[in-house]
Amino acid sequence: MKIIGTGSAVPKKVVTNDMLSEFLDTNDEWITTRTGIHNRHLLTEENLLDLAIEASKNAIASSGVAPKDIDLIICSNVANNYITPSMSTMVEGEIGCECPCIDMNVACAGFIYALDYAEAYFIARGARNILVLCAEEPTRFLNWKQRENSVLFGDGAGAVVLTRGNDMLGSRLRAVSNKEVIIYRKRMEPTPYEVEGVNIDAPLYMNGREVFRMAVKSSQQDLQYVLEHAGVDPLNVEYYLLHQANQRIIDAIQEGMRLPKKKFPSIIGEYGNTSSASIPILLDMMHRNGELHSGDLLAMSAFGAGFVSAAALIRWSK
Ligand code: COA
Repeated sequence: MKIIGTGSAVPKKVVTNDMLSEFLDTNDEWITTRTGIHNRHLLTEENLLDLAIEASKNAIASSGVAPKDIDLIICSNVANNYITPSMSTMVEGEIGCECPCIDMNVACAGFIYALDYAEAYFIARGARNILVLCAEEPTRFLNWKQRENSVLFGDGAGAVVLTRGNDMLGSRLRAVSNKEVIIYRKRMEPTPYEVEGVNIDAPLYMNGREVFRMAVKSSQQDLQYVLEHAGVDPLNVEYYLLHQANQRIIDAIQEGMRLPKKKFPSIIGEYGNTSSASIPILLDMMHRNGELHSGDLLAMSAFGAGFVSAAALIRWSK
């Protein structure tokens, strides 16, 4: 595969750390030093579908491909207020595509999983162009009375259009079953046979320290694996595009790999953790700012609930 278009969309509403401290026992200094987050964008008057459509249209416009020439849409989404139909099918009708659509939930690692699946679909099915979309609203999973989690997240959507090519130089997908570190449960419609205590609503729970530890370890292992298998010196990678979860996680990975800080771009300060949308939003912003040059090697790494992790090494050749 080869990336030929990028797009993103974020909500208009900007929420600062000081705004959170108006109703939570928190403060700008704690949030900034522990996470690097200053602002996050939250859905208010728009809904997630609006962002998904906007990001997809931007990516398609940037690619120059006609919507009818897209042969598959893969959408990474953890949850939204439609259980069915899928986000990808709802977007398809709004952007003029006529193709198979599939949603996947691989938590924050969804973008890299989707790139890998797209690569396989190009090889197995001879697809011409594929739209990969990540649309996430993690701020709707939270108990906004709990300061531990509600300061961390933001909403957003990012997308890429892929065509056939040889820019996927390596990837690694992993999953280890673990409900203890991150879990979010939704109540289903009750049946007459429901057993009390089984069908419950439970907002996002996260063991932050454990997730931090697992994130740093898995990301370094995945990146090293992918680079070694591709025979690429870590210093020859232009940028490491990491899942934007916490600036301290990004810094720990960078320091552990003994690489220059300038290779690890970050947008966490403005957008918080937008789950699987964080890497495609970062990629789109760098592309639009002219920071990517043809031939650059880009390494990506993400991790999240599952516990899942994934890394990919790609060549940027747009
Ligand atoms: N404002 C002020 N104080 C807060 C706070 C907040 N928003 N959230 C927690 N605290 C308090 C805690 O209650 C605790 O107080 P105590 O010492 O009196 O018990 C103290 O700050 C330290 O909390 P702790 O959880 O140990 O902080 P931490 O340094 O581990 O940072 C996270 C917490 C969540 C920022 C950090 O663990 C983290 O980023 N983890 C990874 C989360 C993540 O990225 N998840 C997504 C993965 S996809």
